[in-house]
Amino acid sequence: MDFENILLEIKNHIAIVTINRPQKLNALNIQTIEELKSVFNEINNNTEIRAVVLTGSGEKAFVAGADISELNKLSPIEAKEFSLNGQSVFNSIENLSKPVIAAINGFALGGGCELSLSCHIRFASENAKFGQPEVNLGIIPGYGGTQRLSRLINNGRALEYILSGDMFDAQEAFRLGLVSKIFSQADLLNKTIEFAEKITSKPHHAVRLAIKSVNAVNSMSLTEGLNYEAALFALATGTDDFKEGTSAFLEKRKPEFRHS
Ligand code: COA
Repeated sequence: MDFENILLEIKNHIAIVTINRPQKLNALNIQTIEELKSVFNEINNNTEIRAVVLTGSGEKAFVAGADISELNKLSPIEAKEFSLNGQSVFNSIENLSKPVIAAINGFALGGGCELSLSCHIRFASENAKFGQPEVNLGIIPGYGGTQRLSRLINNGRALEYILSGDMFDAQEAFRLGLVSKIFSQADLLNKTIEFAEKITSKPHHAVRLAIKSVNAVNSMSLTEGLNYEAALFALATGTDDFKEGTSAFLEKRKPEFRHS
């Protein structure tokens, strides 16, 4: 499928999705949100793909937010639809059964920060800058920022950034636990792809079930989550790769996973 604002490359079972509107710092206009919806639907249905790397085009921005020229025209009714539509696309990223790793290569502001928050893992370049500057526009985050940022770094820290609109750098994002690795701009994409390759070598069903179980943290109590984990753990023992992984260990040989 051809996209106007998104590049999709599939290599070694990894989909590399690049948001490609560099002249607007990869701002998410409605067209780009629709294309993200389609591309993640395509990735979901393509059994060859076992991991996703999501990044922005150029060296300046991952995504500098929702497109303010479109925001400016929204009525309250349209704004609710706008918010729910973006949230549903980001939910589909978070709930994808394949790991999505954000390679944050510059500004990740507003919707860009929120997009990164919907990814399973975040790596950043040294020049990355994060923030939820919506307050400066007279609005609040609408693509999940008030919910996901608070869950990730706690309510007080999230409000510090949401109420001030201040940006923070990659080192601060690392300290906050928002990103787990920082690379130079030159290394970011290759190192992220390298990490994605490591995951694609692991049994796909175990990876898929681990994501499902960790995601349950957002909607279940500890007791429910532990029960859910036990059910998914049991499901994993029904796979060929479970038999292969455990047998290979006992036979002191390298496992040959078939992702089945
Ligand atoms: N929506 C629409 N256009 C955007 C945009 C956004 N969120 N962010 C950047 N752009 C556009 C600029 O309007 C400019 O377009 P132009 O050349 O046609 O005028 C282009 O991208 C380059 O941005 P510019 O502001 O000139 O770059 P800069 O280096 O001076 O500043 C930022 C970079 C990120 C600090 C600044 O662009 C910015 O504050 N962007 C908005 C961030 C934001 O509030 N996001 C949340 C939206 S809800």
